[in-house]
Amino acid sequence: MKKFLMYISLLSLIGCDQGISGEQTASDAPAAKGELAPGSASALTDSRPNIERLFLQQLSASSVIIKWRGAADKVRLGKEAGRLDTVFPAEMEDGHSIAHVSGLEADTDYFYTLGNATDVTEVYRFRTAPETGSSPKDGNVRLWLLGDSGTATEFDRDGNPAHPGEAKAVLEGFMRYNSRLVGDQHIDGVLLLGDNAYPAGTDAEWQGAFFDLYPKVIRSSVVMPTIGNHEMGVAPINICLFADTLACDLLGEIEYPLGGLSMSSDPASYDGDGDGPDPEGLPYLNIFTLPTRGELGGAASGTEQYYSSDFGNVHIISLDSQLSNSDDDLRGAMQDWLTADLEASAEQDWIIVIFHHPPYSKGENHDSDLEQREIDMRITFAPVFEQYGVDAVYSGHAHSYERSWYLRGHYGLSDSFDVEKHAAIDSDGNAAFGGPDAPYNEDNRLVYTVAGSSGKFNEWHPCEPDQLINGQAFGCTMDNWLLHPAHRTFETLASDYRKHGIARLGSVVIDATATQLTSRFIDDKGAVLDTFVIQK
Ligand SMILES: [Fe+2]
Repeated sequence: MKKFLMYISLLSLIGCDQGISGEQTASDAPAAKGELAPGSASALTDSRPNIERLFLQQLSASSVIIKWRGAADKVRLGKEAGRLDTVFPAEMEDGHSIAHVSGLEADTDYFYTLGNATDVTEVYRFRTAPETGSSPKDGNVRLWLLGDSGTATEFDRDGNPAHPGEAKAVLEGFMRYNSRLVGDQHIDGVLLLGDNAYPAGTDAEWQGAFFDLYPKVIRSSVVMPTIGNHEMGVAPINICLFADTLACDLLGEIEYPLGGLSMSSDPASYDGDGDGPDPEGLPYLNIFTLPTRGELGGAASGTEQYYSSDFGNVHIISLDSQLSNSDDDLRGAMQDWLTADLEASAEQDWIIVIFHHPPYSKGENHDSDLEQREIDMRITFAPVFEQYGVDAVYSGHAHSYERSWYLRGHYGLSDSFDVEKHAAIDSDGNAAFGGPDAPYNEDNRLVYTVAGSSGKFNEWHPCEPDQLINGQAFGCTMDNWLLHPAHRTFETLASDYRKHGIARLGSVVIDATATQLTSRFIDDKGAVLDTFVIQK
């Protein structure tokens, strides 16, 4: 019985369960600043085309790609809500309507509607990026980061939501924080750290876990994603490894398709339901339209699996720790591209890198001493980040919050970490926290953050001996949970704090001015639980 319960726990843990609810409810988080409320005086008509999945891609100082699904074939746009006199027709691509909007002015608010011959949507709003290398007129670039947020489509064996309302609570907590800010609250970009649609990253799961949850934010702010293991469909696993059931006794090995377990490095292998590769390909690559030719700065990657984009004075890089990382040659090619991209971006004030598998983590079931993808990312890329002045790296995968000291030169296992050798040291001889009173300020050090609790979080529940397989825990916390020495310590001894991490729902917000980058972890109540600052 106990092993059967453990099996259920494992399914829940790795995000496999019994399908997708037919009901998808739109989130009602506060509107992004400046957006017009439905039914306001500026709305143009009572007849609305049926639109979903409206979001922005490749937002630059002069252009943007607007994508959606539904009965509209053009965008009308202008600098005043009542004068939308520039029209951009849409094309169909991978089941989406897509409009390439160009000729815009930098750092400028634009209003837009979607329409067809008879109907038009309400009026939406976005703001173009500043010129490359410049700060926006509100003083800072604000980026909102969501890791492992895709739990709205994760269900238990009885068909009940596995994490009801948790992703929405994180959204509301962040919006509560954002609305308290003095001055401009504009969100420039939404960065996705992977596992943003459980369990298998199907198109329907992306709709329910992402597009239905954040519609107001993503039609005003550009979305920049990265690939997690749950974007990669299902793979068969012998469930008798975990469940000593009667069926296993009778049948022997039982193969079962579970989300998040694909080991393939080939996106064409994507299988959303266990019946073999899907002819439509990998939904992530169909949904997003990402820069492959260096069109937004940096070097041309030639693939949407990893890419980069300037946004004003910030250069943002998305690496592929799932597909490209799992093959030595592909990982080498991604490393070569990263080096070229960083060389091309040396003049930018800030360089931020996102990818899913954290190089330093003692999260539940995801230990950077044990998981090969985490080890490979650390060994291959950490030296490059240091050499070329990357400021901060963000990952997910582990469902908790951990962020490192100001690191340099640590590429080994956690037991080889030496604070005095690898972390920046303060005037008292201790590892420096980098808070607002004493910011970090060195070129060849950086901070690594794990922020994978935007849709669920793990709690302390110690492992039984039979829950360990090859030293890795499944569905329980090991004694070293949230105790990676490369991560900063927390003195607050609340039940959801461990010495080197926090077990609470939340998301990260970055504010980057011309001279200062501030990164904060915001919980689902809107409280700031960690802050670090890097000063130029
Ligand atoms: Fe993951």
